[in-house]
Amino acid sequence: RTVYVNGDYVAEADAKISVFDRGFLFADGVYEVTSVLDGKLIDYDGHATRLQRSLDELEMAAPMPMEELLEVHREMVRLNNIDEGLVYLQITRGNPGDRDFAYPPADTKPSLVLFTQSKPGLSSNAAAEKGLSVISAPDMRWGRRDIKTVQLLYPSMAKMLAKAAGADDAWMVEDGFVTEGSSNNAYIVKGNTIVTRHLGNEILAGITRAAVLRFARESQMKVEERSFTVDEAKDADEAFVTSATTFVTPVVSIDGEQIGDGKQGSVAARLREIYIEESR
Ligand code: PDD
Repeated sequence: RTVYVNGDYVAEADAKISVFDRGFLFADGVYEVTSVLDGKLIDYDGHATRLQRSLDELEMAAPMPMEELLEVHREMVRLNNIDEGLVYLQITRGNPGDRDFAYPPADTKPSLVLFTQSKPGLSSNAAAEKGLSVISAPDMRWGRRDIKTVQLLYPSMAKMLAKAAGADDAWMVEDGFVTEGSSNNAYIVKGNTIVTRHLGNEILAGITRAAVLRFARESQMKVEERSFTVDEAKDADEAFVTSATTFVTPVVSIDGEQIGDGKQGSVAARLREIYIEESR
């Protein structure tokens, strides 16, 4: 695999980052995952806009203009022959000096890393048809989940809780309401209405979420952006998640209770189809 590190396209084994990099010591960094279909990046502009916002919120400099970063993405897709899969990008604050809680000077060179993952079948229906089982778990992440930081230990723990319970993923819950999945946005459908949590500091503003809600509204489906509870989810007709790595994927049970008829719902199936069609 060819990876990109600070200006160079190199073999995975030759990639080097300082042990003093604040990404390594403080999880002081941000990332984006952009999916690839038919060798083309999906919604790069959306990811670039969110990346810039994450950088701004952390007072971190962009290593290069977003248009140049697009060329690096394209080159990575080409060099690694990605037909279906994703490009992972990470920017960390770097660090010329010693370990120190205070940020280094503003002109410190950030570290930029990209790699690709090939995922043949990403757009197939096989994964979607089976659906996911989720458990609910307390949301113990920090209070700025709108920033896409590499600080992902709690989502990993939540994923392990799910696995230990024989489930696929966790829906995190705060003050009685579902925030989101460990690495995706969460939705329920009741009657003709799609419900998903409103944006704020409590969740990440998914790029897939924005596209899917736009397609839903264009198709005259009703959308409510508000909090919902686990009980509401259990009582829903269907449920699903969205992310760059899952597109639209149905959720068929929560805490062992079947949602709807326990199969891929028609709203989720339709939105998945529209999303993939429009992204190609
Ligand atoms: N995760 N919420 C969280 C907490 C996420 O980590 C993600 C994405 C999303 C969906 O965002 P988008 O639609 O822009 O992918 C929501 C990526 C895929 C990951 O961590 O691998």
